[in-house]
Amino acid sequence: MDTKEKSDVFQKRIDNGEKIEPKDWMPERYRKQLIRMMSQHAHSEIVGMLPEGNWITRAPSLKRKMVLLAKVQDEAGHGLYLYSATETLGVKRKDLVEDYLYGKAKYSSIFNYPTLTYADICVIGWLVDGAAIVNQTMLAKSSYGPYARANLRICKEESFHKKQGYEMLAKMAGGTPEQQKMAQDAVNRWWWPTLMMFGPPDEESPNSAELITWAVKTKTNDELRQSFVDRTVMEARKIGVTLPDPDLKYNEETGHWEYGEIPWDEFWRVIKGDGPMNRERLKARRKAYEEGAWVREAAMEYARKKKYREGKAS
Ligand code: 3HC
Repeated sequence: MDTKEKSDVFQKRIDNGEKIEPKDWMPERYRKQLIRMMSQHAHSEIVGMLPEGNWITRAPSLKRKMVLLAKVQDEAGHGLYLYSATETLGVKRKDLVEDYLYGKAKYSSIFNYPTLTYADICVIGWLVDGAAIVNQTMLAKSSYGPYARANLRICKEESFHKKQGYEMLAKMAGGTPEQQKMAQDAVNRWWWPTLMMFGPPDEESPNSAELITWAVKTKTNDELRQSFVDRTVMEARKIGVTLPDPDLKYNEETGHWEYGEIPWDEFWRVIKGDGPMNRERLKARRKAYEEGAWVREAAMEYARKKKYREGKAS
């Protein structure tokens, strides 16, 4: 078959809801899109450990410290699942990591904001992981097998992340006046950046149409954002925090919550590297990567020697 015929067969497989596996034929563009999206997802998980890691030593109790430690460890695991899934597309982890550390690849805008108080940790669990669940539940049905399976596993842990954040925030929102103020201040600062996590508006999303044709994504950025807003408005009311959007109103006809204008100029500024914490995040990750080089070299040398010994023995 020529490439056109192979692409037609490929599209039929996608339309039939089949999973594409690493050894299957796939258009080069499909492979490139997957590498872009999956590696940036993995980078986001790893960079996402920094804002929360900032509060591990300052958690208000041993229990909160343990819960936060477990969550941050989970995020590291999510990054590893996703790097492993991306490597099935014939790329090297070293290249992927160095792409974001020193060059062009992105990670999620949301992790370029500072965690100013402990309430930020509660709100990240509730809002940021809540948004991630909406997105990753969809990605668990992605046409690329390894990516779908990685997201399936991630979603199970994300629901714990969201629940623990929501439970902690409910405690603060029902606590002393200082705690209530701290909780509301964190919600005010994280609400709009969380809506930006889903990506630009559909009409400004160059990748969405292609990703949907290939069922890598099955919903658009705006559809996911809307589904997140609809479920979060009620959760906010339940614990007595206010979402900082005076234009929020329920549309009886559509059954959706309409929301105000998202500050897109801030979004594009942050993803171009000019957010509140972009420089600190990359500096911290570069330092860890460079200081950890000896561990990678030792592990590679050990693996090489082991392979050599096994080769000699057989
Ligand atoms: N942060 C950074 N860059 C973003 C972005 C965001 N929130 N939203 C969009 N972009 C970038 C895109 O990467 C693209 O740039 P590129 O072509 O150079 O990669 C450009 O803006 C245009 O966006 P599109 O809508 O055309 O891009 P996509 O169709 O790929 O949609 C996406 C963007 C929604 C992030 C999608 O790629 C996606 O769903 N990725 C997988 C999930 C993911 O990465 N989530 C990040 C959060 S991880 C997390 O929350 C961890 C949890 O444990 C807390």
